[in-house]
Amino acid sequence: MVLRIYLVGGFNGGSGRTLTAALLAYGLHLQAHPTMLVRQTYEGSVSTIDPIETTLPLPCCDLMLPAPYQLPADLTAGLVTTIHGADARFTMALMERATAEIGSDGDVVVDLCCHERALNAAAIRDAAVILVPARASVPEIDWAVRSISYIRDTQRYRNTPVATLLATIAPESERVRQMALLGGMLRDCDPERDLIPGEPADIVVDVPFLDAASLTALLDERPIWRDPQLIERCRAFAAAVAVRADRCMTMLTEDADDL
Ligand SMILES: Nc1ncnc2c1ncn2[C@@H]1O[C@H](COP(=O)(O)OP(=O)(O)OP(=O)(O)O)[C@@H](O)[C@H]1O
Ligand SMILES: [Mg+2]
Repeated sequence: MVLRIYLVGGFNGGSGRTLTAALLAYGLHLQAHPTMLVRQTYEGSVSTIDPIETTLPLPCCDLMLPAPYQLPADLTAGLVTTIHGADARFTMALMERATAEIGSDGDVVVDLCCHERALNAAAIRDAAVILVPARASVPEIDWAVRSISYIRDTQRYRNTPVATLLATIAPESERVRQMALLGGMLRDCDPERDLIPGEPADIVVDVPFLDAASLTALLDERPIWRDPQLIERCRAFAAAVAVRADRCMTMLTEDADDL
């Protein structure tokens, strides 16, 4: 068996990566999978006390994205991109850390930083599932669409399809409007369905939405994780990610066979 890596990433800050990663990790943990949550840090990132790490009842740790390779100045731009794209040092360190913590058959959820290098070709290739959170405002949806387009473009170029989902974060009352915006923007940037072969809704999964009281309780480091409703929602979230990821992989491989 192997460790399954769930990357939660995207290029804009404040998009919901940390909370989405925690809710998914908790859902996987509730399905009795050995699960670990890893927060990716980078040189110069601000070190904070994380209320999720201190309250979530499963192994959590920080792991640094290594500094980029120092390359000779006379390399061509193409070669530099290839070398940085193939840099798998973070994934190797991740596997080593996770194997020591939860063994070699389990789920590792990674809360990526929003640095471009966090989603290089090697990280994308080695993931089992990639989730890009999308909050409800137009700029946030726009960023999520750009992020998912970049990720799918990298997969297509390198022929390394990986289930890539949009994790939508919105209160119930906003979901229809959010989905309409998302669908419209996805189709605008991919009119020929080269990047996303099926319908936008096929790659969307709703993240459990926390109300203001739960968010405040979490920030106060109160253990929100014992709430039976939250337990049920996280379990359902992890199950929905598995179903959507399977469907997405089927779509991507059928599409690749058709080419
Ligand atoms: N599931 C959710 N339910 C309700 N609100 C959410 C949810 N996820 C994110 N948010 C809102 O979005 C804010 C940012 O979320 P989060 O800290 O997870 O994003 P991030 O991408 O990790 O940000 P950063 O760039 O600071 O690391 C939260 O403080 C919260 O207000
Ligand atoms: Mg964060």
